Amino acid sequence: MTTDNTAGIHPQLTLLTGACGLVGSRTLAHLHAKGFNLVATDIAPPKPGTLPPGIPFIQADLTSLADVDRLFDYAAPVAAANAPPAAYDFPLASTSNPEHKGTAFDAVVHISAIAWLAPGRTLDARAWHANNVVGSYNVLRTAVERGVRNIVQASSMNAQGVSYSVPGRNTFDGFPMSEDTTRRPVSGGVFLAALADRQMDPYGLSKHEAEIQADSVALLCPWARIATLRYHFVCEDYAAARAQVTARDVFSWVSYDACARAAECALAAPLAAFGGHEIFHIVAPEIAWEGGLEEGDRGREGEGAERPGTVALLARWWPGIPVDTRYWEGNARRGVWTTDKAERVLGWRHDV
Ligand SMILES: NC(=O)c1ccc[n+]([C@@H]2O[C@H](COP(=O)([O-])OP(=O)(O)OC[C@H]3O[C@@H](n4cnc5c(N)ncnc54)[C@H](O)[C@@H]3O)[C@@H](O)[C@H]2O)c1
Repeated sequence: MTTDNTAGIHPQLTLLTGACGLVGSRTLAHLHAKGFNLVATDIAPPKPGTLPPGIPFIQADLTSLADVDRLFDYAAPVAAANAPPAAYDFPLASTSNPEHKGTAFDAVVHISAIAWLAPGRTLDARAWHANNVVGSYNVLRTAVERGVRNIVQASSMNAQGVSYSVPGRNTFDGFPMSEDTTRRPVSGGVFLAALADRQMDPYGLSKHEAEIQADSVALLCPWARIATLRYHFVCEDYAAARAQVTARDVFSWVSYDACARAAECALAAPLAAFGGHEIFHIVAPEIAWEGGLEEGDRGREGEGAERPGTVALLARWWPGIPVDTRYWEGNARRGVWTTDKAERVLGWRHDV
């Protein structure tokens, strides 16, 4: 049975990568609670008791072709084999699926990546870049060749060169920013001073490239649709975000819960909602900056502190970039990234 009638409604079996990470574990728990039938994977085994009961776990390094092929060979207890299209219109001999095999998975939620480093840990920029770019391509390419039609991929606002850029070297077309705003991963060679040894620029670049890879895979295999969810800085709630977001984050955040619901919305969106590869901003509707315009004053909620408007903050921290102030009429604290596409196409909202 193929997913022709089920993709975009409620996939029968969904593979979720990055299942042991911060966002992946929360998304897994949410989808499980919503009745999705899931298989979890990660390079690291789950800590005992952390996976919801009954979810099979397969340990796999997504940069390893052997591991990825073994993952997609997963034999589901219930026969729900997802056949590839009868004939590809491109040669497969040199790809991961020369035998034209299907897979048990109807959908894939690809969340894994190296997104941050634990304090004190360092990583060669080349290894970081390769892990994310190669892992994403392997998952997307294998999924579509095996006939999966419903794919969700985690990306980041850092695909636009946001939080890890050299101050003064980053720029944007203008504010607010939509999904069509030019990607500028100009965070080359950066050390975030506040994070000492954490060199983050390969991360933003890898997200930029993973989005382009999704464009390519969707063009090659038009039977599949890919939703790229561009999360902002993921925090537990507004209070946590208020304490952590910086001017370089352009004052924004998103909740774990909202990220998990975005994956659900993308999986379950009607077939007619979208096709090919589409990017969606998954960001809180309002900024999380309080306490005046200066970095040293931020976060003083409840002390009679100011709640500065977004336009004033943009003028202070991102001078010279065009601001369409009409966007903030009626809500001076509106976020900088537009989310109307995710709301309109996926039926997602940050707050429910
Ligand atoms: N946390 C944030 O603030 C944030 C913001 C924007 C986007 N994102 C995106 O969300 C996703 C999850 O981020 P997170 O914060 O949960 O990170 P995380 O490090 O907590 O989780 C990522 C998981 O991916 C796994 N992984 C890494 N490389 C792998 C490989 N080669 N093979 C298999 N598994 C591998 C890790 O073991 C880990 O469990 C990432 O794609 C990240 O880019 C996160």
